[in-house]
Amino acid sequence: MLASSVYYVLANVYSSINLWTILALLGAALWQWWKKPHPRFPPGPRGVPILGILPFFGKNPSKSTMHWSLRYGSIMSQRMASWDVVYVNNYETYYKCFVKNCNTLNGRPDVKLFSQIHGPNMGLVFKIPSDFCKNQKHLALTSIRRSTAQGQVIHDEFDYFFEHLKMKMGAPVDLKPLIYKFTANVISQIAIGKRFGYKHTKFNDFVSKIEHEFTDPNHAGKVHVCGFFPIMRYIPPFYQANEKFCLGQHHMLAFLRKQVEKSKVNFDPNTVNNFLDVLLHAKTSGDFKGHPEFTDTQIEVFLKEFFSGGMETTSNTLLWCVLALLHLPKYHQLIVEEIDSVIGDQKPKMSHKRNTHVTSAFLQEIWRCMPAVPQTPIHTTLSDLELGGYFLPRGTRVIGNIWAVHYDPQVWPDPEKFDPGRHLDKEGKFIRSFKIIPFGIGARFCLGELLARTEVFITFVKILQSFRISPATNPLPPLNDGICFLLYSPHQYQVVLSERN
Ligand code: HEM
Repeated sequence: MLASSVYYVLANVYSSINLWTILALLGAALWQWWKKPHPRFPPGPRGVPILGILPFFGKNPSKSTMHWSLRYGSIMSQRMASWDVVYVNNYETYYKCFVKNCNTLNGRPDVKLFSQIHGPNMGLVFKIPSDFCKNQKHLALTSIRRSTAQGQVIHDEFDYFFEHLKMKMGAPVDLKPLIYKFTANVISQIAIGKRFGYKHTKFNDFVSKIEHEFTDPNHAGKVHVCGFFPIMRYIPPFYQANEKFCLGQHHMLAFLRKQVEKSKVNFDPNTVNNFLDVLLHAKTSGDFKGHPEFTDTQIEVFLKEFFSGGMETTSNTLLWCVLALLHLPKYHQLIVEEIDSVIGDQKPKMSHKRNTHVTSAFLQEIWRCMPAVPQTPIHTTLSDLELGGYFLPRGTRVIGNIWAVHYDPQVWPDPEKFDPGRHLDKEGKFIRSFKIIPFGIGARFCLGELLARTEVFITFVKILQSFRISPATNPLPPLNDGICFLLYSPHQYQVVLSERN
């Protein structure tokens, strides 16, 4: 009798301890989810425990964030899994953050999605600021500037592109694979001084890995989640997406490793012709010779970023340009007439832009409405920061919402409307806007801005000098809805090309 009462009491105590322990743990988890890093941290949605707002992102996370900013303000935060991320949503705050406070805001976090492949702090995109990082960016910028001057590399590569387009004339064609090969070869010549035939299996494989990385709708969304929520990499179906992503990345790095090995054998320090030569030269002489961060992996990852940064972004922008022409026959005709009268059959160059007002307005509207990178990669604060009355402790993750800057109704009335006319004055002259910032601004500005702007202008003009374009997909995918993860791309469509006289 005594034994059974003792057992009863002990069992009760034990089960209540268990219950209290579970409740306490649950409470701690809820508190952890709910509490902000600082009482003056910017406000914003917290979503649900563990996942935060990830389940509510919808098809276009940058657009959803823009809508939340109407309620919480242009500087707001979002709980994304276990991180509190600050979003900056209009031009004034973007400028204040990334330009005025660029020395505090140019940090980058360790993004496991990439560091699981090659270790942290590699390449440029996720490189922690340092003299070495600055020097690498400087080397790349001078190399790109030198190769992009006159746009010769673009003109030369267009000749191959043109031959392939010509073969497809008269029948429905999806331009995407050809455009990708074109932009990949432009960047390849700048990066490693080499172009590859359109039937080169290994190069095609390399290109398709980049293509699927961030724009394949079945894959990119899951990879995006793994980027923000590293633990998901171990849980199906994200596990499979992450495995596929890693395999693709290793494949790309292996392809580039081979190119680096070949270049090392033939390297002549007196003839530096491309970015890889510049890196090899800097590695063997100059201030950063023997620098511990200047490893072969650093070179391979930097080259990979050249390709993935420069290929999909520019290709998607060109695909948006063609789609918008098909949607707006009036502008299609005006642009063709303008090109005929200002440029004729000369080789287009950037100086022509001064007199191609409608074309420039049309392209600026493309940069505004279809930003290839709708939000910046994550920045981090290198020290505590006071911003617009809020407090951001050191290490806070901050994202510039380029989409929200470009769709701000205070700056762009009826922002959803694709209207090149908004960039023309009463005399029909082009008005350049500094509030359209598809390449970001501040210390982490895009390395490839000059190349991308030159490539888009020259290629767009050359396509229109060479072909008439008509739609082969009915109905065409809309202009105001694309595939949006880390990059923004149009849904698939086909065109019919015919030769112009
Ligand atoms: C349509 C074309 C392109 C667009 C819209 C674009 C956009 C961007 C944006 C928004 C950023 C982030 C800025 C920030 O974090 O604040 C960026 C960074 C970067 N882009 Fe681009 N980009 C384009 C083309 C290119 C090209 C052609 C290259 C390579 C040659 C390139 C290489 C990079 C690199 C390496 C960074 C990281 C810079 C750093 O962290 O310091 N991009 N780009």
